[in-house]
Order: sequence, then C-alpha cells, then structure tokens
Amino acid sequence: MAKFEMVVMCGIPGSGKTTFCRERLFPQYLYISLDQLRTRSAEAELFAFALRRRKSCVIDNTNINGRERARYVPAAKKAGASVVAYWFEPDVQACKGRNAGRTGRERVPDFVIGDKAARFAAPNKAEGFDYIRKVSIDGDSFKVEEEL
Ligand SMILES: Nc1ncnc2c1ncn2[C@@H]1O[C@H](COP(=O)(O)OP(=O)(O)OP(=O)(O)O)[C@@H](O)[C@H]1O
Ligand SMILES: [Mg+2]
Repeated sequence: MAKFEMVVMCGIPGSGKTTFCRERLFPQYLYISLDQLRTRSAEAELFAFALRRRKSCVIDNTNINGRERARYVPAAKKAGASVVAYWFEPDVQACKGRNAGRTGRERVPDFVIGDKAARFAAPNKAEGFDYIRKVSIDGDSFKVEEEL
C-alpha cells in the first residue's frame, strides 16, 4: 500500500516550520494550516478528508503541547496513518530575529513568541507518534535528527 503519513509540525512562531514544509514536504503532503484555513471547522473538514482518502498530510500549526497535538494524533492512528512529529527546540531570540524580517500577516507580535516558548512541550512517543524528528537550522538549511 502507498505511504500514508500524518505529519505534525511543532515549534514556536518563527521556528521555520512553514519553510521546512515548503522545502521538504511539498508537494507530496496535503498542507493543512489553521492560519490559512482560518477556522477550526474548515481545518477539521480538510483533516477528515485526508484521513478518509488516505492522503498524507502535514499540520502546520505551532502545536506546542500534547493537548494541541491530541486534536490530530489519535484520529490519524485510528485511520491507519503513520504519525510523525517534526519539532524545533524553542529559541526565542532567534525566532524574534526571524520574525522581525517578516511582513504582513506572517509577522506575529513578539510576546506571542515568548508566551508560546514558556508553554512549549516537546513531542513524546507516549502521545502516539511513530517517529519524532528534531529539526534545527544549520546555516541556510535544515538538519533533521531522528529520536529513538
Ligand atoms: N533554514 C532557514 N534559514 C534561514 N532562514 C529561515 C530558515 N527557515 C526559515 N527561515 C526564515 O525565518 C522566518 C520564519 O520562518 P517560517 O515562516 O517558516 O516560520 P514558522 O515556524 O512557520 O512561523 P509561524 O509559526 O509564525 O508560521 C521566515 O522569514 C523564513 O524565511
Ligand atoms: Mg508558518
């Protein structure tokens, strides 16, 4: 059977999640972003579509803790998907710096970055992830480490 995977991106604003999706997951993974869809109901419809039709997908929200990720992980497992987390260790200074270089809707108020960093919890296999991969920015590109 073809690969069926649900990816959850996890990281505070400015971490590089969307850039990573663009570089590594486009166009194979259906892109699901609450920022883009605007409402939870639209997000839920697209997510349900991906699961029903066994389309690999990526959830590109900050997904900073187990409670937020639980919106997706159990449902994806039940649908038979492999469930993968890519996560960025919060680096508030670096994220504020990258945020400062953004414009328009992309740019978030700085306090959101600090607030989300304080509440961030790294993904854990106990949440149901089959694979957990830590991403860091290495110069201009991404480095990915598989966690065992
Ligand atoms: N590997 C990288 N090297 C240098 N700059 C990067 C890299 N990845 C992302 N950036 C820059 O950092 C900024 C933030 O990246 P990006 O929009 O991907 O973050 P994000 O995690 O999706 O943030 P948000 O949660 O607010 O959507 C962008 O301006 C982007 O161009
Ligand atoms: Mg983004």
